[in-house]
Amino acid sequence: MISSDFQGDSFGNVTDMDTIVSLCKRRGFIFQSSEIYGGIQGVFDYGPLGVELKNNLKQLWWSRNVYRRDDMEGLDAAILMNRWVWKYSGHEDTFVDPMVDCKKCKGRFRADKLSESQCLLNPKLHPGECGGELTEPRNFNMMFKTQVGPVADEDSFAYLRPETAQGIFVNFKNVLDSTNRKLPFGVAQIGKSFRNEITPRNFIFRVREFEQMEIEYFCRPEEAEALFESWVQERLDFWVNEVGLKRENLKLYEVPDNERAHYSRRTVDIFYHYPIGWEELEGIANRTDFDLGSHSRQQDQLGLTAQVIKNEHSTEKLTYFDHTTNRHIVPWVIEPSAGVDRGVLAVLCDAYDEEELENGEKRVVLRMKPQLAPIKVAVLPLKKNAPEIVAMAKAIKDDLQRGGRMRAVYDDTAAIGKLYRRQDEVGTPFCVTVDFKSLEDRTVTVRDRDTMLQERVAVDDLKAYLLEKLGL
Ligand code: GAP
Repeated sequence: MISSDFQGDSFGNVTDMDTIVSLCKRRGFIFQSSEIYGGIQGVFDYGPLGVELKNNLKQLWWSRNVYRRDDMEGLDAAILMNRWVWKYSGHEDTFVDPMVDCKKCKGRFRADKLSESQCLLNPKLHPGECGGELTEPRNFNMMFKTQVGPVADEDSFAYLRPETAQGIFVNFKNVLDSTNRKLPFGVAQIGKSFRNEITPRNFIFRVREFEQMEIEYFCRPEEAEALFESWVQERLDFWVNEVGLKRENLKLYEVPDNERAHYSRRTVDIFYHYPIGWEELEGIANRTDFDLGSHSRQQDQLGLTAQVIKNEHSTEKLTYFDHTTNRHIVPWVIEPSAGVDRGVLAVLCDAYDEEELENGEKRVVLRMKPQLAPIKVAVLPLKKNAPEIVAMAKAIKDDLQRGGRMRAVYDDTAAIGKLYRRQDEVGTPFCVTVDFKSLEDRTVTVRDRDTMLQERVAVDDLKAYLLEKLGL
């Protein structure tokens, strides 16, 4: 068993959430969705720098799990699915939170989280403490419903998927038949999921629209436990060595029976030390044959399904023919499931640093891995009113971004010291400065974000120099 060294709600990390939220808004990482209309709770937009950071994180995950392994296929399934998927996945019945209503303040709260909730009339009190009567708990399903087609009758609806996983399960046979894979193998997918969270909070930590990076790894039942253990280590290694999160900010948590999802025989969560405390970044679950088995079993009882999906030929069982035993088996599944938004938040919190410079000024710097940085290099002219320097700087920037391997920007909107600070604050690993000496000897200054040390590099060698340092 994984030892659970989770310490409850201790607080840590160098910064608080407000600092991260304000940096994200100020520098164009993340904005409140539909802000000009007052926003919508639990929904956020990624701005010019945020989209780069998010894409870079997803690219790292995809590259590690799909391109650098021989046992994985990719998939991009639709968000809208036949509603019966969610019946047989168990989500229609069990993806619920118990809720109570306060008759006085009219608030609705999670019955199992009353001590973490605030009364709407007096935020210092917990629900019920204001004297208002609380109703009996009632189950509230977290799936969003939407109308499909022009006729608004009882049957013409679909759910917005609450996890991407089911898109992989229902395509199991399609992937197997089109790739001839043998067990064990996995299917990886990145995509949007939606949950009608009752109390979305803590910025992008708990939201109603988010992205997941999920793997369903299919195996023989007898292999499952060992594969589970190795996936836990693999995923921890990803966050530490690939993404660069500090090891001391990550912990494993063995999820007890009463906290596990309905499909899971065993779950280990990877917790990150967010400014709000230790919270889940990723979960690794042993889903056994629950999902493939359930979708296959209901197809045995075809009366209902054939009528509903009106295509008996699409009711093939989600099984695997094992040539060694000459039997059909329902594979077991190990599922590492990570949240993209929680990953972005962890990267921002982990990277954020403030330091005092010799001249007493404060420097904010995002010390993130170069592969994740939204901008890889900023090219800055020492003087913006020296046309030859400006022309040379722009030509260098054009050359660096040619081929699309790195995002380079040109900026001359402030003095050089201020331009450095701006790039530090968004995590740009290198600044290239073009000065009068550059005009004479075709060399430039390359400044390192973390050490602030400067080096003179020949323009002709610059691109190769940066690509190597950036690890691209
Ligand atoms: N398919 C398994 C599954 O969905 P989960 O633990 O419910 O399991 C997996 O979700 C990951 O998705 C979580 O570890 C978290 O990173 C992310 N996630 C879940 N709900 C979220 C929410 N409301 N907002 C942001 N991320 C969320």
